[in-house]
This record gives sequence, structure tokens and C-alpha cells, in this order.
Amino acid sequence: MNFAQIVPSIPFILEGIWVTLKIVGLAALLGFAFGIILALFKIGKIKALTWFADVYTSVFRGTPLILQLMVVYYGLPQLIGFQIEAFPAAVISFGLNSAAYISEIIRAGILAVDKGQREAAMALGIPYRKMMWDIILPQALKNILPALMNEFITLTKESAVVTVIGAMDIMRRAYIVGGEKYAYFEPLLFAGLIYYVMVMGLTLIGKAVERRMRKSD
Ligand code: ARG
Repeated sequence: MNFAQIVPSIPFILEGIWVTLKIVGLAALLGFAFGIILALFKIGKIKALTWFADVYTSVFRGTPLILQLMVVYYGLPQLIGFQIEAFPAAVISFGLNSAAYISEIIRAGILAVDKGQREAAMALGIPYRKMMWDIILPQALKNILPALMNEFITLTKESAVVTVIGAMDIMRRAYIVGGEKYAYFEPLLFAGLIYYVMVMGLTLIGKAVERRMRKSD
């Protein structure tokens, strides 16, 4: 193994960190926002919405993420007449996929909040929307933080599959460097190190946030 040969390509690979972070960050935001909505549909009383949220979750969890990515990137142009670029296609498919997982996490979190909280809010005449936003969701979020952090870690690692649609993330850059040097081992190992450091960073942030939230107990 010869790590010296990839030294000139290190900045090129490192630039992928920003691409990966942007994809993961935006997808997480999209997934979280849509995930809350789906979770509320699931626990709500409107049958059609519950049905929609359940079917949505089962489809997005029941098919491979890489397939969803390819449908958005390669398949959608047939319907809408133009091709979405790799970056937005990645954000959309990862966001939609993550929403399915996040909605289940949030749903479980909401159901785990003591029902006395809900009863007390109703007894006080607090409207449903206010009760959800100000009383139930904040307590639910606190309990599900580790599960959410887990989801973000999964998202970070899974983001490597955007390589197949040509987005210039860490993984794709390592692959390109490997092709140029006829040596894949070193750049791939380097990419692995970057992902590992990112995941460790997320883990530490998660632990810190958890500790702070426990303090307020
Ligand atoms: N590789 C799996 C798949 O293709 C993992 C997807 C996980 N997604 C998530 N948001 N947790 O289905």
C-alpha cells in the first residue's frame, strides 16, 4: 500500500465532506418535518390520512433506498419531462425515505407520553394544536432523541449510495481517485476514515444533547 500517491488528491476527497453534509442535513430536515406530519396523521382520527401515512411508511420502508433514489433520478424525467440534478434528487429521495422511519420514531414517542398529560390539557380546555406543539411533542422529542440520532447516523452512512447517480460526495470522489491511480484501497480507506469521524462526531453531539436534556428533569 502506498498512501503517498493519494496525498495530492486528499483536498479533492475532503471537498466531498461538504457535499455529503449538505445532502444529509437537508434530507434530515425534510425527513423530520414530513415525519412529524406523518406521525400526526397516524395518531389522528381522520381515517384517510392514517391510511395514507401507513401506506407511505410501508412502501418507503419496504423498498430499497437505492431504488427510490434511482426512481427519482432516472425514472421521474419520463413523467415530468426533465431530469432533476443529482444533488436535489439525493435530498428528495433521502428526505422522503427518512420521513418514513422518523414518523415511526415520533409516533412511538408521542404514544409514550403519559396519557395524563393529554387528559390534563383537555380538562384545561387547551386546543388540540396547542396541546400537541407545546405539551406532547416537546416531551416526546426528549424521549426519542437517541432514536433520532441513530437515524441521522444511518442517513450519513447511507448517503454514500448517491455515488450511483453521480453526486460528488465523499464516496464518489474516493472512487474517482481510485480510478485515476489504479489503486482503490488507499482512497477508499481514507473515505472510510472520514465517514467514521463524521459518525463519531454525531454520536458525541447526541450524547451532549441528551445530557443537557436530562439536566432539566
Ligand atoms: N439500506 C437500507 C435500504 O436500502 C437502509 C435504509 C435506511 N434508511 C433510513 N432512513 N433509516 O432500505
